[in-house]
Amino acid sequence: MTTLPPGSTIGIIGGGQLGRMLSIAAAQIGYRCHIFAPEESGPAADVCAKWVQGDYSDSAALAAFADDVDVVTFEFENVEPDPLRSIAAHAPLYPPIDALEIGQDRIREKTFAADCGARTADWAEVNSRADLDAAITKIGTPAILKTTRFGYDGKGQARIIKLGDADIAWDALSDAGTLILEKMVPFAHEFSLLIARDQQGSIAFWDAPENVHKDGILATSTVPAHPKVLEQVPAARALARRIAEKLNYVGVFAIEFFASDEGPVFNEMAPRVHNSGHWTIEGAVTSQFENHIRAVIGLPLGGTKLAAPGVEMRNLIGADADKWLEWASDPLTHLHLYGKHEARAGRKMGHITRLTGL
Ligand SMILES: Nc1ncnc2c1ncn2[C@@H]1O[C@H](COP(=O)(O)OP(=O)(O)OP(=O)(O)O)[C@@H](O)[C@H]1O
Ligand SMILES: [Mg+2]
Repeated sequence: MTTLPPGSTIGIIGGGQLGRMLSIAAAQIGYRCHIFAPEESGPAADVCAKWVQGDYSDSAALAAFADDVDVVTFEFENVEPDPLRSIAAHAPLYPPIDALEIGQDRIREKTFAADCGARTADWAEVNSRADLDAAITKIGTPAILKTTRFGYDGKGQARIIKLGDADIAWDALSDAGTLILEKMVPFAHEFSLLIARDQQGSIAFWDAPENVHKDGILATSTVPAHPKVLEQVPAARALARRIAEKLNYVGVFAIEFFASDEGPVFNEMAPRVHNSGHWTIEGAVTSQFENHIRAVIGLPLGGTKLAAPGVEMRNLIGADADKWLEWASDPLTHLHLYGKHEARAGRKMGHITRLTGL
């Protein structure tokens, strides 16, 4: 392995806020980022060295993009893996595509996690209305019917609390391919792990944030998490280590967990930097974004310890961002806006971070 020197160029597939924050972190240590995305522009456009508009399924365009950079990574996981594989002959690609492929499909993801020793919610595959009835009989209610692919921010999900809900859930999701019915896990707290692994195989964890979702969208991440979560972090980390090693992972990834009475229940993983790690920009010695960049360019990982006794991150969703002047005027608040022009309901417009206990 050779470490890419400052001045090298990192190609990023995807141009949203994660690409924006990765580009900023790369620029800070002297690297340039090129973005490949289908849109004309996006949150990363303001801060990258070059924006290449192209289709995620266009292998020739992806290969040409890779020829122009020294290493490629991705910030968006809902891309077909095969066109991405065409990059391999043109530039190194991290994290591994296997991780992307597994993380794209809730059934493959739960099966893989269980093989690594994870506890998951009881689940059943659903391909027809009759399957749904059988699944409800098998795992019981309350349960959640989800699309197996392309879900995010709680989209592509329908809750089945009482039997009559099955028809509504089926009508809403039956066009979306294979579905999964998951038993609702009773939990008092949700948390995530942010994990970094470098090209030498060293692994680092940040403190586990406790996450609160509203309407299926992450609302807040808080460190330190509730003591009930902290008790479960060692078991969750041991699982994350097994997953990282099995995938020969390079870069940052996140795993979402429910802290249940029986211990940590694996919910899902994301093979990329994650919203529940945005607090690390000000709240940790090295941010998730810098450590992801460090891993893909072949540098050792930076320290992941807390930079303050506590950290709170709150997402600015839709109209929340209208209060930007208020947040910007508070000397204890770090304001992040992603440069999105239209504040649609449910859209992540930015976030704020507060260090606490200083
Ligand atoms: N089986 C379950 N039991 C209990 N709560 C659940 C379950 N599945 C999902 N939820 C709740 O819904 C939220 C969103 O679900 P999930 O993480 O599967 O969706 P997503 O659309 O992939 O979300 P995101 O992309 O924002 O992480 C979870 O964080 C949790 O609060
Ligand atoms: Mg989730």
